[in-house]
Amino acid sequence: MKLFSSTVAAGTAGAVVLIGLQFGVVSSSLGHGDVTPQAIDTSGLDELGEDYLEENPYRLAGGEQYQLAIKIGASGYNQNCARCHGLEAISGGIAPDLRVLEDGVLGDEWFMERVRKGYSQNGAYKMPPFQDLMNQQAMWAIRSYVESQPKP
Ligand code: HEC
Repeated sequence: MKLFSSTVAAGTAGAVVLIGLQFGVVSSSLGHGDVTPQAIDTSGLDELGEDYLEENPYRLAGGEQYQLAIKIGASGYNQNCARCHGLEAISGGIAPDLRVLEDGVLGDEWFMERVRKGYSQNGAYKMPPFQDLMNQQAMWAIRSYVESQPKP
């Protein structure tokens, strides 16, 4: 019985992962009314390589890099996050309001943790993991946008 139920659970978890991923891909194209996943165009932003950074490199760079990151992040946010976290990062209650994340490196770490791995409860994804859907340039651009929005 135990074996059986854990097999079922594993199977369900696998299916949920697939649905979760699909969900994420679909979400990125919803705003455009087509079904092709929309890649976030991060050209102009500094390349960051494979290893995840701990602190928002675009905020640290400041100036034009940061302004560009905010701009790219706004569109990345609208395509991928707004339907749960709210337009202009103002939550309608489905998911937490991202404007109240901690400033600086503490908020950065938590932001990246959630965005990369998503959030699941009882085997169901409440938030899809984004690490296979966008690169870290795109993630940090979205972080730049969110942290630059006025706090509630
Ligand atoms: C399908 C809905 C959904 C989508 C799409 C989604 N999220 Fe979430 N997100 C959630 C939910 C639900 C939670 C709450 C999880 C929890 O209880 O920690 C959450 C939590 C978070 C948190 C932690 C917030 C906190 O206060 O602890 C961050 C950061 C976050 N999401 C960022 C994003 C970003 C950035 C995107 C887009 C790239 C995104 N999410 C897309 C549903 C979503």
